[in-house]
Amino acid sequence: MDQGLTAPRNLLGFIDGIVGPHTTAEKQQDLWLAGPSPVAGGTIAVVRRMELDLPRFAALSVADQEAVFGRRRATGIPLSGGSIASDPDFGAKTPDGRYLIPADAHIRRADAEVVGVGLMLRRSYSTDEPTPGLLFISFQNDIRTFTNTLTHMDTSDALLQFTSTTASATFLILPGFDQQRLLGATLFH
Ligand code: HEM
Repeated sequence: MDQGLTAPRNLLGFIDGIVGPHTTAEKQQDLWLAGPSPVAGGTIAVVRRMELDLPRFAALSVADQEAVFGRRRATGIPLSGGSIASDPDFGAKTPDGRYLIPADAHIRRADAEVVGVGLMLRRSYSTDEPTPGLLFISFQNDIRTFTNTLTHMDTSDALLQFTSTTASATFLILPGFDQQRLLGATLFH
């Protein structure tokens, strides 16, 4: 798997965009809308403008930064080990009984299986104006994939103390188009 090589780093220095619906079967199940027919093949996009507190995050040791995400900063490998493509092992503990991936690590709080939702395709873009941050965009075929994940993060996610959301919107994305089928054509059948 070369996800880590192709996935970019965010302004906090971590590889972003590793986990998501990448196979055709996963996209069919969690990304594209199955219906109603006018929007089948489309999806739902959530866009959020998030500011990042870079100085406060940079002041942490590398180990503390890695604990915030639950992955290695240099490689993207989960703190439970393996490769960048390995599933995180949320049950793995140190000999003295502490979770290798802390209870409030972002990848644990946001994990689809832990939350009990489908996968979301995340495409985030770093921003510089008016302050450093991230334009977070997630695509999913059920809005609860996003809202339930956010609720699960809200109660305890170590990442949240470094972020503030300043704008948020949700969009219905129509199915793709070609020369035979113009954008929005399915709406007027
Ligand atoms: C400034 C805010 C955020 C930053 C910097 C950030 C960054 C990251 C990073 C570095 C990862 C680990 C690598 C990966 O799997 O891509 C990750 C995972 C993830 N993030 Fe975020 N994220 C942010 C906000 C959010 C929000 C608002 C959500 C959704 C409500 C979200 C959902 C997820 C999900 C679902 C994963 C995959 C978890 C897993 O199963 O391993 N993130 N994020």
